[in-house]
Amino acid sequence: MPHEERVKLSEKLVNKSGIKGKTKVAYGVTGSDGIELAVRAARYYTGQPYIFTAYGDYHGVTYGTMGLTGKGNMQPYFYPILPDKAIGYFHFPYCYRCPYDKEYPGCDMYCMKSFERLLDGKESPYTDGVNNINNVAAILVSPFQSSAGYYIPPVEYLQELRRIADRFGMLLIIDEIQAGLGRSGKLWAFEHSGIDPDMIVTSKALGGGVPISAVIAKAEILEEWGPGAHVSTQAGNVLACAAGNYILDVVSSEDFLKKVNKTGAYFMERLRDLEKRHKIIGHIDNRGIYTGIELVNNRETKEPAVEASTYIRDRSVEECLLYEKGGYYHNRMQLIPPLNIGTAELDKVIAIFDKLFGEAESKFKI
Ligand SMILES: Cc1ncc(COP(=O)(O)O)c(C=O)c1O
Repeated sequence: MPHEERVKLSEKLVNKSGIKGKTKVAYGVTGSDGIELAVRAARYYTGQPYIFTAYGDYHGVTYGTMGLTGKGNMQPYFYPILPDKAIGYFHFPYCYRCPYDKEYPGCDMYCMKSFERLLDGKESPYTDGVNNINNVAAILVSPFQSSAGYYIPPVEYLQELRRIADRFGMLLIIDEIQAGLGRSGKLWAFEHSGIDPDMIVTSKALGGGVPISAVIAKAEILEEWGPGAHVSTQAGNVLACAAGNYILDVVSSEDFLKKVNKTGAYFMERLRDLEKRHKIIGHIDNRGIYTGIELVNNRETKEPAVEASTYIRDRSVEECLLYEKGGYYHNRMQLIPPLNIGTAELDKVIAIFDKLFGEAESKFKI
């Protein structure tokens, strides 16, 4: 049943998606549900089975998405339930510890060249570059790797994926479920790369606590399959869409985004100051209020400060400061404050970090 809130939200999402040309929107209930919708639409539209994603990406843990969650530490939870097999993986540009031992920017995005090299030949099930055969429906990635540890790749990452997708006739799907909706200082995180995606998936903050997800796509993709191809009783229900209408108006307003950037810049300035005084900080990723901190035992060797990371996380809880610990090497701080956090609260956070970094540095002789 159509209803006014859904019509209003659809108009807004279509107008603000950042996707060029005519777009359409379809609804789900959770983030994973939205990702499944996008993947099914991509396979249906292209007639191809494979989906590519990056190691470290998180796209959900439902039956349809668990294979797309390239994070190794999730697999023990799935066992013995095997994921979707028609999925390929490539390395995410984790430049601080490049998987190919290169240095950005001199590397010329070697990781993407290596991915393209895989597709060039006929040795993989995905493509036969020589004979122009493509079995891949889409490349599905997060613009920034959130659940892995708040990693921000170079802007060339999505640009290269767009180029590769176009070259082989694959769709490019961007998962904006965590990095989107203003956190990076732009409405969508992919906008930092200036690309034109084929589909984006949003959820999480969109409902402000009420479950909703939405897939916004170039119109022809969602028009390919018949109405009712993806249905769910609660998808796009009145309450969720009303919440979405409110949230989207707030987070997409120019003033709000300006404030996010201002708060983020203030936080970053204070973190840079901490970095000067605390050797445990190896690297900081930041855009807007999206911030990840990598902790190391030694800045030269970059040895991950695994024990110290756990110590700081546990001590933070005692100081009533909650954040998630993550990272490929269990040594990252994922900082996800509310977008309307004030500088007074951030000052308190900095004071706690200052104290706890100091404690960890003496305890672990860093
Ligand atoms: C980037 C990303 N994609 C997909 C999901 C899955 O969303 P949900 O937990 O609502 O199924 C999440 C959840 O954390 C996420 O961060």
